[in-house]
Amino acid sequence: MVIALIGATGLVGRVMMKVLEERRFPVSSFIPCASARSAGRKLEFNGAEHTIVTVEEAIEARPDIALFSAGAATSRQYARSFAERGTFVIDNSSAWRNDPSVPLVVPEVNAHTLNANTKIIANPNCSTIQMVLPLAPIHKRYGIRRLVIATYQSVTGTGVKAVQQLENERAGIKGEMAYPHPIDLNCFPHGGDFLENGYTAEEMKLVNETRKILDSPEIQITATVVRIPVAGGHSEAVNIELDNDFHIDEIRQLLHKTPGVVVQDDPINNIYPMPKQAAGHDEVFVGRIRRDHSVNFGLDLWIVADNLRKGAATNAIQIAQHLLDNKLV
Ligand code: A2P
Repeated sequence: MVIALIGATGLVGRVMMKVLEERRFPVSSFIPCASARSAGRKLEFNGAEHTIVTVEEAIEARPDIALFSAGAATSRQYARSFAERGTFVIDNSSAWRNDPSVPLVVPEVNAHTLNANTKIIANPNCSTIQMVLPLAPIHKRYGIRRLVIATYQSVTGTGVKAVQQLENERAGIKGEMAYPHPIDLNCFPHGGDFLENGYTAEEMKLVNETRKILDSPEIQITATVVRIPVAGGHSEAVNIELDNDFHIDEIRQLLHKTPGVVVQDDPINNIYPMPKQAAGHDEVFVGRIRRDHSVNFGLDLWIVADNLRKGAATNAIQIAQHLLDNKLV
């Protein structure tokens, strides 16, 4: 496979390289790209040095797959040029996610939406990926009527500058601000731009992308996205109202059996998912599994994952693996 990586110097781009290496993805030729600022610099992949090239050069190379993680503007500008030349684009930005002709894929949930003609494929938003993985089997079995979500999101979801801001604040250094406020010893209910409906862009991603991936536009969803001074992963408190009654042990069993999900639910012994422990892992961790007694058929879950891995890089590489395993590429 000839693989191009657009955004190779970014946080997600670097994890994508690591995941490709760890999974021994069959890469015959690797083409790293970044902005013009980085072109000519070298980076190491699979034990060899590679020179960063411009996106235009990568398009001409007609790679089999182009992994994009360089922001929505870059994806909008270049994804079609790759696709027109026969390259599969797996795009980690928000550029194509709401396009009805573009599959939005969490492979364990809806890989069936991929085929040889879906040349542009959207990788969902990090907080959506980790939420729909455990929710999909619950939805299939009991039907999800409504979701009330609060997220506690890592600064790594914002990119290199945000991690730098947190580190600067902790070291007492005055530097560039990625956020409108200090993040260390703080938290704010602000992820992405504020929209006219009062929600933020990150909150609406949870609403729209969850409906699309679960193929259920009728699910009622409200979300509050909160940024916290943590680097290892995103956490989510998810309140679920189901259409049908359930037994809490059945939910636990269902989650135990779900590929990619790890149940960590022994609160008496202080065992529940935490970002510090999820960091560096590909699985989604679920705990605090309990009935919500305030409504009929209510359920509460606490869901944690490394947002750079299953929330971004790992999911993208799993999509690439699916294309390969099913001889679509
Ligand atoms: P560069 O390092 O040259 O700026 P993050 O989200 O972690 O901040 O990373 C963003 C990634 O997107 C980086 O690899 C960055 O490269 C890359 N990038 C930004 N703008 C462009 C562009 N116009 N074309 C290609 N890559 C870009």
